[in-house]
Amino acid sequence: MPSFPPRVFSGVQPTGNLHLGNYLGAIKKFVALQATHECIYCVVDMHAITVPLPPADLRANIREVTAAFIAAGIDPKKHIVFNQSQVAEHAELAWVFNCVARMGWLNRMTQFKDKAGKNSENVSVGLFAYPALMAADILVYRATHVPVGEDQKQHLELSRDIAQKFNNDFADSIAACGHGEAFFPLPEPLIQGPATRVMSLRDGSKKMSKSDASDYSRLNLSDDRDTIAQKIRKAKTDAEPLPSELAGLAGRPEADNLVGIFAALAGESKAEVLNRFGGQNFSGFKAALVDVAVDALDPIGAEMKQLLKDSGHLEAILNDGAARAREIAAPVMTAVKDILGFVR
Ligand code: TYM
Repeated sequence: MPSFPPRVFSGVQPTGNLHLGNYLGAIKKFVALQATHECIYCVVDMHAITVPLPPADLRANIREVTAAFIAAGIDPKKHIVFNQSQVAEHAELAWVFNCVARMGWLNRMTQFKDKAGKNSENVSVGLFAYPALMAADILVYRATHVPVGEDQKQHLELSRDIAQKFNNDFADSIAACGHGEAFFPLPEPLIQGPATRVMSLRDGSKKMSKSDASDYSRLNLSDDRDTIAQKIRKAKTDAEPLPSELAGLAGRPEADNLVGIFAALAGESKAEVLNRFGGQNFSGFKAALVDVAVDALDPIGAEMKQLLKDSGHLEAILNDGAARAREIAAPVMTAVKDILGFVR
């Protein structure tokens, strides 16, 4: 496999209720990667319409995710922030990938099975083909690294399979068109740290999710200090004090989750957190967790509120980002057309 210049791509769906899982699993990492990589961060509005979503909500949510990116510390001048539907090459390459991916591959996607449930005859074709669009998002920029939470791991593996199959199926044409041995990189997921899968505050066996009916299950990026404090105080725990060693978290999903959240917010490891709090009961630990959570989240929430007052500014950021994204995506798509044999 030839080496490709490093480039980061990731996306967040504008489906409402951005929460601590999105922040720790993805957005916080997006911010950090700016120091070492060229980064492209996308509000994936075309993914959001795979399930019904009223247009006014979609519009508001796109602004909300954009504001969250900026408030968290993404620099839209040095890097690229845009919304997917403004760069038509995503949809074009997704169609090509629909013809590369196999039904059997998509049939194995656990997230589709979870989302479709018993209703699989009645969900959109888009929900099924969703991972091919996700592969197109990444590969239309020939991105090499993709920071995501644990729940996206299987989709990333599928993106690699699609890239590999395209490279194999069209190997002769890729070489004949002057692109050497492989046209697409095999993108690497970046899934590390103590909070790659943040769980519900009400049930340590369920993922923290924007669709959970209970708002007490998650910390939203828009929550104010009092709400953050109240939700943490009410978070489910067990009756034992915190263990001093990592092994003591086994079989204690709620304790494990809160320790992971603390560690990620404070920039420590879980072992370091247990070193400090091992043997203490939850009330002291929760008070300290409220402090780190408020310190991390309150400024982001406050800045989001400010940014959301000026939707013109947010739209200007998206338009500028889309123009720069298109400059990268258009020649890639032209090359794909030549490789496939389309006449242009
Ligand atoms: P989405 O919008 O559901 O979530 C955005 C990001 O947040 C992460 N995440 C979590 N991380 C830890 N714990 C949690 N409880 C938690 N919940 C969500 C997700 O893993 C994700 O990184 N399909 C993607 C969006 C997408 C994309 C892409 C991502 C579309 N195209 C291309 C990367 C590259 C999604 O639905 O994420």
